[in-house]
Amino acid sequence: MRHLLSIEQLDRRTIERLCDRAAAFEEVGERDIKKVPALRGRTVLNLFYEASTRTRSSFELAAKRLSADVVNFIASGSSVEKGESLKDTVLTLSAHRPDCIVIRCPWAGAPALLPRWTDAAVVNAGDGKHEHPTQALLDVYTLRRRLGALDGARIWIVGDVMHSRVARSNILAFRAMGAHVTLAGPPTLLPRDVEELGVEIRSDLRDLRRADVVYALRMQRERMTEAHVPSLREYAAVYQIDSRRLGPRQLLMHPGPVNRGVELSGDVVDSPQSLILEQVAAGVVVRMAVLYEVLATARAEDPVTEPQPA
Ligand code: NCD
Repeated sequence: MRHLLSIEQLDRRTIERLCDRAAAFEEVGERDIKKVPALRGRTVLNLFYEASTRTRSSFELAAKRLSADVVNFIASGSSVEKGESLKDTVLTLSAHRPDCIVIRCPWAGAPALLPRWTDAAVVNAGDGKHEHPTQALLDVYTLRRRLGALDGARIWIVGDVMHSRVARSNILAFRAMGAHVTLAGPPTLLPRDVEELGVEIRSDLRDLRRADVVYALRMQRERMTEAHVPSLREYAAVYQIDSRRLGPRQLLMHPGPVNRGVELSGDVVDSPQSLILEQVAAGVVVRMAVLYEVLATARAEDPVTEPQPA
């Protein structure tokens, strides 16, 4: 795989291969010296046009644990504020000859343009409302660890599906892995064409107890151009996952950042059913697997770009 732009490009076998490689990287994080030389001398550029806590820090840690050099480029404080376009920014940064560019941006589809302007491998770390493939991979990884396999698992994705790139990538990945996916939320926050993705739709949480896994989403207020719900209080009254609605055997997931008291009550976030911190931890090994895949594996298959011995 040369680039990771979407889950759409991956089949089940590839998702499984990435998860297996991530599992093999677990022991690196348990060492005193948390590093292997797999990507020594390679340069990873994190190009972030949007806020990020988990994704950026885990891509950076993942690259460092594989001994790559990391450059973090955060759009605020850069020439982007002076009006430099994405194309010019990528051309400029490519002059530093990065081997991989990890990009997060508010523009759906923009990561797919980068290979026109750079020789680096491109990894999508979230593009607008479109996709967030590494989030979906780390969620599959987390669930495989808990459940063994996802085949037949009933996963409910609850909340603002319309504005969520996580929902889109996760629907594709969970379905590819054999899970049964239900989307639940206010009809105004469920995209119209979503049934084409092979999911069930609910506008209330009456049957939530049927789920094995409840995956809650954040209200993406920064992507809303109009009022989709009357108020957050009213949203929470009908759709908040709290200890009344969540059964004791159900697993709870959320990509973070959580708005406590909106999509989740504080007590379920901190409950033993919550996999939220396991998801964050999985982010590092899964991103190690992705960087390894696009940098080590793809290059080995491509002798022209393989570095020649001195
Ligand atoms: C998500 C994102 O940025 O898409 N966060 C993340 O990467 N873990 C979800 C969100 O912002 O709600």
